[in-house]
Amino acid sequence: MRVESLFNYPLKGCRANPMLEAKLGSLGVQGDRRFMAVTHRGQFVNGKKFPKLVLVTCRIDNEQSVIFSAPNMPELKVDLTADDGRVDVRVWRSDVNAKSLGDKANSWISDFLGGDFRLCFYDQNSHRQVNSLPEYPVSFSDSAPVLVASRQSLEALNAYTGRVDKIEQFRPNLVVDADSAFAEETWQRIRIGEVELLAVKGCARCPVINTDVEFAQPDPNQEPLRSLTKLHRRVSDGKVIFGQYFVVTQPGRVVKGDQVEVLQSRPAEQYQPLPDEEQEQYTITFEPMTLNARSAANETILEVAEAAGVALASSCRGGSCGTCRVKLLSGEVEVGADYALTEQEIEQGYILACSCFARSDLVIALED
Ligand code: FES
Repeated sequence: MRVESLFNYPLKGCRANPMLEAKLGSLGVQGDRRFMAVTHRGQFVNGKKFPKLVLVTCRIDNEQSVIFSAPNMPELKVDLTADDGRVDVRVWRSDVNAKSLGDKANSWISDFLGGDFRLCFYDQNSHRQVNSLPEYPVSFSDSAPVLVASRQSLEALNAYTGRVDKIEQFRPNLVVDADSAFAEETWQRIRIGEVELLAVKGCARCPVINTDVEFAQPDPNQEPLRSLTKLHRRVSDGKVIFGQYFVVTQPGRVVKGDQVEVLQSRPAEQYQPLPDEEQEQYTITFEPMTLNARSAANETILEVAEAAGVALASSCRGGSCGTCRVKLLSGEVEVGADYALTEQEIEQGYILACSCFARSDLVIALED
């Protein structure tokens, strides 16, 4: 097994930057997710809300300066040694004190995204820890410093969808030629060149993977996430997984083509079986329009609604945002995830359409 591609994404959400070799340290691949766009209140901005970010390219010069470019924008060079002050920002649940890139950079990103935004830098004085990794620093990546995915996982997904999605949509740092699809999820400790990595968790996916990386266009049919939901939804929590997060336990250099050695394996997680056309089907009635739709056992209520043309809003499609909340008036469902619901809402019969499966005929209310 070998490393086929190496990427960093210096600005969170930006275009993949292919590399022939890279140093890996405690923050992951050199230069990865060190810059971030935030609102004027310091809240992070990512590709889910602003797909245009994927059109930005970002190059760091020896930690001395950074150059941003984007379509129809002048190139922006920022001196990282200049004193432009500091800014408190928030990424997911972490508060981070970061270096400001100054007024010129703030105007540049505001002009490009259309609004009032700032650019900041995770420098040597910044510090972020995430709950699941108390001993390891994490810069502006979502959950952990290094994301590994195999080419075979992408090929399995593309074979299932009949599409040609690109690995850059999944934003990995290392792409590996593995023995089989999703093999990376069974690696507990791996060695690549001088570097050793320890697995943290599978990468739960959201609609960011539906954005075309060339034109920043989200797929109108919500693919490939819609298909990945059928192909690789974890039984334990209903999350849709692609790729594995790691931390660096032995820093060093990785070169494209380096061999990947599995030092320790972990048991594979259980995934929902693929939809079986022979499986029992149920009728879901959506109120108040009294629209009936047929549901296979492995289709989420959201997928059934969408296929039937029912207007039901969704966002994360993984049970964490609450956008797809509906009320179950009758029938039995299997709940994959309900993180976004309060206990009171659950008692009142609310469910998340993206994470529930019919287990009998159902009546669902779209409005209170
Ligand atoms: S779409 Fe986010 S919880 Fe269902």
